[in-house]
Order: sequence, then structure tokens, then C-alpha cells
Amino acid sequence: MARITTVGSLLVATASAQLLNIPALLGSLGPAPEDDPRFTNWQAPGPNDVRSPCPGLNTLANHGFIHHDGRNMTLPHLLTGLAEGLNMGADFTVLIGGAGLLSSPDPLGGAFDLNDLDQHNFPIEHDASLSRQDAYFDDDHTFYDPYWQDVLAYFQNGQTALKPAAEAIANRTRDSEAINPTFTYGFREFIFRYGETAIYLQSMGGSDADGVTRVDWVRSLFEQERLPYNLGWRPRAEPITIPSLGQMVFELFTVSPEAVPEGKKIFADSYKDVFEVLVGGSEVLNNITDGLAAAVGL
Ligand code: HEM
Ligand SMILES: *[C@@H]1O[C@H](CO)[C@@H](O)[C@H](O)[C@H]1NC(C)=O
Ligand SMILES: *[C@@H]1O[C@H](CO)[C@@H](O)[C@H](O)[C@H]1NC(C)=O
Ligand SMILES: *[C@@H]1O[C@H](CO)[C@@H](O)[C@H](O)[C@H]1NC(C)=O
Ligand SMILES: [Mg+2]
Repeated sequence: MARITTVGSLLVATASAQLLNIPALLGSLGPAPEDDPRFTNWQAPGPNDVRSPCPGLNTLANHGFIHHDGRNMTLPHLLTGLAEGLNMGADFTVLIGGAGLLSSPDPLGGAFDLNDLDQHNFPIEHDASLSRQDAYFDDDHTFYDPYWQDVLAYFQNGQTALKPAAEAIANRTRDSEAINPTFTYGFREFIFRYGETAIYLQSMGGSDADGVTRVDWVRSLFEQERLPYNLGWRPRAEPITIPSLGQMVFELFTVSPEAVPEGKKIFADSYKDVFEVLVGGSEVLNNITDGLAAAVGL
């Protein structure tokens, strides 16, 4: 398969040997117009469709912002779909999507299927999820309501906020630690989990400063894997970026009752750093993303 990467000219041949014009792709990204029919066209997955442990990707697939069958997730496809549906920034999608590619049986093929993401402990899936059981109990990807109810119990008056969101993470940590003899929890898992909370808060309308948004919008994302468009939600105006998430990871940790594993310190850059270490450094990330990582400043 042809893979020519010429970052200097920003013209690359992807795995499918198509020419990808990176500046044109990146310059075109943003949320879809409010009247885009995909916001209200929700379809449950059919028997031949695949889904993942990620409520965000499952939701976007259910609305057709990314392939409804859950397969063939390339970075250009994800960049467009995640921006149109949730205004995820290109830096986020390239960094997390690059890690996602490592879960594919053919990481250099440039695409993964949503169910590849079930793979436990590497690259992304971890114990003590908010809404899924640990892999030790067999199924790490199907929504699991009892844990989710434990999380929701922390929110008062139908509103989220940073402190109860952080307390909910800590509750899930304690529970998994108590019941799962293979419980795995290091710095990497810690950062991912705070990052995932930052993602649901920011994508469901929480401001970067306080993470306050409507619990019914968050419930729609997790429980129905549906964008809460009919409840009044709209994609936020500002893209959700690695800096906006990294800052919220830092703020969540600041109000968290948990200590950081391995005695490490958390900085606003920790979120980005953990992913870059995971994929093997920025040069590898740039290679597996066909030059997109450098183009978005990672
Ligand atoms: C290419 C982009 C993405 C990839 C590869 C990805 C992958 C994953 C994976 C593997 C997990 C499972 C981790 C675990 O809980 O064990 C996960 C969890 C999660 N993802 Fe994504 N994700 C992506 C984008 C998004 C987006 C756009 C959202 C927006 C809402 C999102 C929200 C979440 C949340 C909230 C969780 C935590 C679920 C829980 O704890 O039960 N993700 N993601
Ligand atoms: C996968 O998606 C790419 C574009 O994102 C497309 O060119 C290719 O034909 C697709 N392959 C399959 C097997 O669907
Ligand atoms: C987690 O929260 C639930 C609901 O509030 C509570 O019943 C449970 O005891 C908590 N678990 C731990 C380990 O703190
Ligand atoms: C990245 O790709 C280039 C060009 O193919 C190669 O020379 C280099 O060794 C690769 N770097 C890493 C860290 O894989
Ligand atoms: Mg998990």
C-alpha cells in the first residue's frame, strides 16, 4: 500500500492512495449548520453495525456524523465528523484518533472500526469507567446503568459542576479497586479518565471555567447515545481543543478528592503529554497521522 508522507509540502498519499490536501481539510472544519438534518436524524445501530466503549463516537455514528456502521474510521473522516457534530478541534481528533488507530489490527492501514476500541489497557480503554464495567467482568463496552446511576447521584439540581464530576470519578475508582482483582490504575488511566469527564462536560455545553451544564443533556449522550438537540443543546461556538481539555483536567484534579497515581504532578500539558508518550512520541504520531499532527501543531 502506498504511503508517501511529504510534510514539507503538506501533500500526502494516504493508505487509500488518495491525495489529501491538509490545509484545505483543516480550513474547512467546524460545526454543521443548525438545520443540518443529521442533528435530528438518530438511528440505533443495526445488527451488522459496530459500536465502542466511547459514548461520544457511538453518538456521532448514530446520527451519521461518522459512518453509521461504525467501520473504517480514517482521520480525515473523523476530523470532519467530530467537528460537524460536536465542534471537536482538529488537534483533539488527530491526537486521540491517532491513539485510536493503534487499536486497529492494522495500525498503518489508516483506519479503525469502533469495536477495535474495546481492546483493554492499550491504547485507551481502562478500568473504572463512568458507564461501563471493567474488562475483568467480560464486557468493557456496553452501557452499564448501575455505575452511571452512582455517577449521576453526585449532581444536584439537574446541573453538573467540576467538583461533583471529580467526586464521581473518585467513586468509580474506589468501587473498581474494591471489586476488581486486576484493577489497573496508573498515571495514564488517571489522565484519560479526567480527560473523558472534561470532554463530556465541554461537549455538552459546560463552560471551560466551571463545567456547569444540564444533566439531562449529559444523560442523553450516555444513556441514549443521542445528541440532545431537541432538549435545546447546540454544538458550542468555540472548538474543544487539547488546551481547553488539558486546562479542565487540571481544574478537575484541583478539586478532586483523589491523589495522583505514581506521585506525579498534573499540569495543563499533562493531557497532551500522556497521549504523545502512548503513541511513541510526536514523530511517530506525525507518521501514523500522515503529517496531520505537525499540521495542527502537535
Ligand atoms: C477519535 C476520537 C475518539 C476516540 C478514539 C475515543 C476513544 C474512547 C475510548 C477507547 C473510550 C473508553 C475508555 C474507557 O472508559 O475505558 C472512550 C471513553 C469516553 N469517550 Fe471517547 N473517543 C473519541 C472521541 C470522543 C468524543 C468526541 C467524545 C465526546 C463526547 C468522547 C467522550 C468519551 C467519554 C465521556 C468517555 C468515558 C466513558 C465512560 O467513562 O464510561 N470521546 N473514548
Ligand atoms: C474508507 O474510507 C475512506 C475515506 O474516508 C474511503 O476512501 C474508503 O473507500 C473506505 N473504505 C472502505 C472499505 O469502506
Ligand atoms: C458510590 O456512590 C454510590 C451512590 O452514591 C454509593 O452508593 C456507593 O457507596 C459509592 N461507592 C463508593 C465505593 O464510594
Ligand atoms: C517517520 O517516517 C519517516 C519517513 O518515512 C522515517 O524516516 C522515520 O524514521 C519515521 N520516524 C519514526 C519515529 O518512526
Ligand atoms: Mg473502560
